[in-house]
Amino acid sequence: MAEAVGDIGLIGLAVMGQNLILNMNDHGFVVVAYNRTVEKVDHFLANEAKGTKIIGAHSVEELCKKLKRPRRIVFLVKAGSAVDDFIKQLEPFLEKGDIIIDGGNSEYTDSRRRTKELEAKGLLFVGCGVSGGEEGARYGPSMMPGGSVAAWPYIKPIFQAIAAKVDGEPCCDWVGEDGAGHFVKMVHNGIEYGDMQLIAEAYHILRDVVGLTNDEMSQVLAKWNKGVLDSFLIEITSEILKYKDEKGEYLVEKIRDTAGQKGTGKWTAVAALEFGIPVTLIGEAVFARCLSSLKDERVNASKHLTGPKLKFTGDKQKFIDQISQALYASKIISYAQGFMLFREAAKQLNWKLNNGGIALMWRGGCIIRSAFLGDIKKAFDKNENLSNLLLDDFFKKAINDSQAGWRDVVATAVQHGIPVPAMSSALSFYDGFRLERLPANLLQAQRDYFGAHTYELLDAPGKFLHTNWTGRGGNVSSSTYQA
Ligand SMILES: *[C@@H]1O[C@H](CO)[C@@H](O)[C@H](O)[C@H]1NC(C)=O
Ligand SMILES: *[C@@H]1O[C@H](CO)[C@@H](O)[C@H](O)[C@H]1NC(C)=O
Ligand SMILES: *[C@@H]1O[C@H](CO)[C@@H](O)[C@H](O)[C@H]1NC(C)=O
Ligand SMILES: *[C@@H]1O[C@H](CO)[C@@H](O)[C@H](O)[C@H]1NC(C)=O
Ligand SMILES: *[C@@H]1O[C@H](CO)[C@@H](O)[C@H](O)[C@H]1NC(C)=O
Ligand SMILES: *[C@@H]1O[C@H](CO)[C@@H](O)[C@H](O)[C@H]1NC(C)=O
Repeated sequence: MAEAVGDIGLIGLAVMGQNLILNMNDHGFVVVAYNRTVEKVDHFLANEAKGTKIIGAHSVEELCKKLKRPRRIVFLVKAGSAVDDFIKQLEPFLEKGDIIIDGGNSEYTDSRRRTKELEAKGLLFVGCGVSGGEEGARYGPSMMPGGSVAAWPYIKPIFQAIAAKVDGEPCCDWVGEDGAGHFVKMVHNGIEYGDMQLIAEAYHILRDVVGLTNDEMSQVLAKWNKGVLDSFLIEITSEILKYKDEKGEYLVEKIRDTAGQKGTGKWTAVAALEFGIPVTLIGEAVFARCLSSLKDERVNASKHLTGPKLKFTGDKQKFIDQISQALYASKIISYAQGFMLFREAAKQLNWKLNNGGIALMWRGGCIIRSAFLGDIKKAFDKNENLSNLLLDDFFKKAINDSQAGWRDVVATAVQHGIPVPAMSSALSFYDGFRLERLPANLLQAQRDYFGAHTYELLDAPGKFLHTNWTGRGGNVSSSTYQA
């Protein structure tokens, strides 16, 4: 009994997989479900999928036989070797033009390799970032597909139907070649780290400098959520701040201040270092979590290391407004840095990235969804070759209008001994990026002095010179000093 009636197959019936199947079923697609532990398939059909058009398969062969051609098979399995194992198992039952879609959290380098390997065999591969958690998978995730471009027309109707919608537009579009979908998903997660850290810094200042109560902070954020900072993360933070436990006490203040991480923020920072792009805010957000997790050492150090003991005496309301400006300006820097990373990756890996589409995909369905992403989309609609988000007129003005407040907040936090690694590194990046002259001339002189690494003159770029700085003689060789 293996009639090819299935529109799409899905392997991996954990909650994400089940919810994505139910979502596709809701939109009229016939899904064939498979899981290595086949009891799971029967259990799913008899319970969550009862009364739907969903079909089960008890082997990969049966799964393939039940699918219309070209076959579309989505994986929601653990990233890593499980993906390669399932590809190997499926291959004997696939035909030219069939499409494998990896919807898991794979590393983009693996998706690059898999695209090449499968295309060499006449098959198509799509690495698709899926964001929005279990809820998103069920009712509309943000989806970021990249890989074999020939696959897109076949998956587009299904993916755009099940994705989140903002103003009627699906939060799913073609991202680019081979690993581009998973790369964009990785940077999405990094940006999520940055957005969260920025809000945490704002909370720290509101609580410990301004001295607001949790209810007051909640109200401040609720108000911010009606303006340019309108976003899912500000919204939930406002709720979190005022939440009381069964004892009537604020729960957030009782939570141990050590942040965990699953690694995708770190991957973004590593990619930034590899591509040589200063994605400083995400890097600082990752390090801030690392520092937080050294709780025992911090508790001990708090008894030994001193800092300032100032009391805030300024205009509270004015300062609160400035904190929102610092948050907004820093957030613009973070996204500008993320898109700089896209630009360099695209250049080095020969991707033609859909920048406006990326902003649109993040506009809804995912954790970083915000009104702000609509402005980024507009910037790329105005100029698809925009070299840097900071040079778009809208963002240029936004930074200009908020920078006085931003500088005050960073300075005040520093004076009060409150760490603001994300806000302050964003400001340093901004100042570095906008300055025609940085002190790197001195770095070049130092490198030439101790290592004969040579330097160029301002009026003769491209011509490399070495100076005998000491006049003492003896050759210094760049092969012995690599700094
Ligand atoms: C199959 O089901 C089991 C049990 O729920 C689950 O642990 C496993 O991750 C599922 N996925 C695959 C690919 O077998
Ligand atoms: C705590 O700090 C003191 C410095 O006074 C140091 O000697 C000790 O090793 C520290 N302990 C831990 C667990 O870090
Ligand atoms: C953007 O750049 C691409 C590739 O260089 C070019 O084909 C396209 O025409 C440019 N678009 C605009 C609006 O200048
Ligand atoms: C930048 O902001 C300052 C102070 O808010 C304002 O006076 C100035 O006109 C603004 N400049 C631009 C180019 O928008
Ligand atoms: C550097 O200058 C000194 C003094 O003029 C000379 O003795 C020495 O050979 C020079 N060294 C090099 C590497 O040119
Ligand atoms: C310095 O290096 C040059 C080029 O490698 C060589 O010709 C010269 O003999 C060296 N001088 C000394 C003092 O080692």
